[in-house]
Amino acid sequence: MTAHLPRTWSVDGGLSIGGVPLARLAERHGTPTYVVDETHVRARLAGFRAAFGRDTGLIYAGKAFLCGGLVHLLEREGWWIDVVSGGELELVRRAGFPLERTVLHGNAKTPEELRRAVSLGVGRIVVDHADELRAIAAIGEEAGRRAEVLLRLNIDVEPETHAKIRTVGRTAHFGLDLEAASALVRAWPGSPALALAGIHIHAGSQIRDLDVFRQAARAAVAFLAPIRERFADVVDLDLGGGLAVPYLAAEEAPTPDDYAAALASGLHEAGVDRGLGAHRLFVEPGRSVIANAGVTLYRVQARKRLPGLGDVVAVDGGFSDNPRPSLYGARYDVVNASRPDAARDRAFRVVGRNCETGDVIAPEVRLPADTAPGDLLVVPVTGAYGFSMSSRYNGVGRPPVVFVAGGVDRVVVRRETHDDLLACDLGVAPA
Ligand code: LLP
Repeated sequence: MTAHLPRTWSVDGGLSIGGVPLARLAERHGTPTYVVDETHVRARLAGFRAAFGRDTGLIYAGKAFLCGGLVHLLEREGWWIDVVSGGELELVRRAGFPLERTVLHGNAKTPEELRRAVSLGVGRIVVDHADELRAIAAIGEEAGRRAEVLLRLNIDVEPETHAKIRTVGRTAHFGLDLEAASALVRAWPGSPALALAGIHIHAGSQIRDLDVFRQAARAAVAFLAPIRERFADVVDLDLGGGLAVPYLAAEEAPTPDDYAAALASGLHEAGVDRGLGAHRLFVEPGRSVIANAGVTLYRVQARKRLPGLGDVVAVDGGFSDNPRPSLYGARYDVVNASRPDAARDRAFRVVGRNCETGDVIAPEVRLPADTAPGDLLVVPVTGAYGFSMSSRYNGVGRPPVVFVAGGVDRVVVRRETHDDLLACDLGVAPA
């Protein structure tokens, strides 16, 4: 029942991760703080490699969580990185990552972003629409460079997940429907600056139903087969990310092995290993690499008893470091690290400090009845889409990210200061 927790989570002699007591982490780094179990991340990267083998390209979806510290781990493990903006590309470049192992995504890339990607020689650009393909050709010709592109397909599948994170089907605005994609391939611009390297499908995020991945694999091969003759080099089948993770103790989620098996069976059913020629499989997991490796530490600031809501505790972070409960109704557990041995004998509503009623971290969790201001609370499974979606709302400042392993804690992103918060405000008075 602990699959949702970081691998090195321990309750012996007080809660710790990576051999570092959470109480000490809170003292040294303050709260709120994101803590990432480095051992967990490494094990997860290795687990994906073991599940998919050497020949599959593993692309980490940077949008889930990205910082220089993680880029170094990905580099060493031979992963690629998917970036979705000039900013993410710059982060990866400055960390010294080999850019031929980056993939640029986006449904509204700007000309500047495309120019930068082409001139830096990113490994693949995923084309979202026809105008973008023409823009890449023009940019490549001008720069005297060749861009390897993947066409993003929107297939007719409706995966069961939150509507806001479903990226295929009639309500999704990503990629080309099959007809538009076929038309684009038929009218392929004969530009020396463009190489069609393959196709891409990302069905959505937090997907539990493995059949969705099977369907994506079949759709990719079905699209590829008729164009093989003309585009012999089209070998990449990038089937996106989206593998679900457990958020609560009682939840189960498929493993990387299940995921690899589902994709392999979809490819097999489509006949890819029976004469459809060479292909190279890529996958793009984000959440399933990092989500369970991370927790957030908060300090209780207030406790109230309210007639309509019962017992409420308010902490020093919330929406500004984790908007997921508010955006997607995401559910999290909360653990009182100051009273690890006490019975969880009372229901509490845990709310954040951002000024809106929607800032609820957990509408109803069980905590020790004597939970009080000053206590340290831990929210597990915040490794993905917390830090990356954090905001400056209410001027709270973004928390630091601390990696822990082998009894050592390392700050990899420092806490945002008031100076950071105000760095772009020119303080210009109205004329
Ligand atoms: N590839 C593409 C093209 C994507 O758009 C995404 C996620 C991924 C890969 C990685 O998906 P993952 O393995 O992380 O599920 N903010 C939302 C999730 C948005 C996902 C966006 N795309 C959340 O907090 O649930």
